[in-house]
Amino acid sequence: MKKEWNEIYKNGKELNIYPSEVLVSWAYRNKIVKSQKALDIGCGFANNLRFLIEYGLDAYGIDNSDYIIDAIRDEFNQRVSVQSIKSTTFNSDSFDILVDRQSIQHNFVSDLSKIYSECRRIIKMNGLMFSVFQLTEGNGATKAVIDEHLLDQKISEYFTIKEKNYHMQTTNNGRNKHDSIVYTLLKE
Ligand SMILES: C[S@@+](CC[C@H](N)C(=O)[O-])C[C@H]1O[C@@H](n2cnc3c(N)ncnc32)[C@H](O)[C@@H]1O
Repeated sequence: MKKEWNEIYKNGKELNIYPSEVLVSWAYRNKIVKSQKALDIGCGFANNLRFLIEYGLDAYGIDNSDYIIDAIRDEFNQRVSVQSIKSTTFNSDSFDILVDRQSIQHNFVSDLSKIYSECRRIIKMNGLMFSVFQLTEGNGATKAVIDEHLLDQKISEYFTIKEKNYHMQTTNNGRNKHDSIVYTLLKE
C-alpha cells in the first residue's frame, strides 16, 4: 500500500487541498475543545491537518508514504512523520482526538484489528475518533470498498460506536461522488 500511495502522489493525484467538509462540521458539532492533542492518521497532503491546526488543536500527522511526508515537511516540520498506523512510536494515551479521513479504508481487512488496537492504545480514555469509510466507489485512484457489517464488528472490539452517519461525498475536484460512513468512536 505504501508503494501504491507513493506512485499516486508522484503522479500528482489525490493531492487534496481543501479540508473535508464532513470533518469541519464534525469538529464544530462535537464542540472539540481547542488546544487538545490530535493525530491525523494518513494525513496525505495535509488538507485536514492544516484545518485541525487552524481550528486550534495541537495536531500531528502520520502517513506511510514517505513521498507525501517529504512534500509537506517544510510546512509542518516535527508535526509530521512517516509511520504506519498498524504500529506507531507514540506513547499510550497520547491523543485526545484521532482523525481518519479515508485512510484506514485503504488497508487489508485482515489488518483492521491491528489498526484499531493501535488507535485504542494511543488515544486517551474518553477520546473521540473520527473515521470515514467510502462505501461506494467514485472514480478515485484506489479501490476501497469494505463490508459495512464486518467493519462495525471489527471497530466494536476496540471502540464504542457513538454515532454512525451516512454521507454523500463530493471530493475536492468535484469529479467524484460516493456514499461514505462517518463514524464517531469513543474509547471507554
Ligand atoms: C485517500 S488518502 C486520504 C488522505 C487524507 N486523509 C485526505 O483526506 O485527503 C489515504 C492516505 O492514507 C495513507 N495510509 C493508508 N494506509 C496507511 C497506514 N496503514 N498508515 C499510515 N498511512 C496510511 C495513504 O498513504 C494516503 O496518504
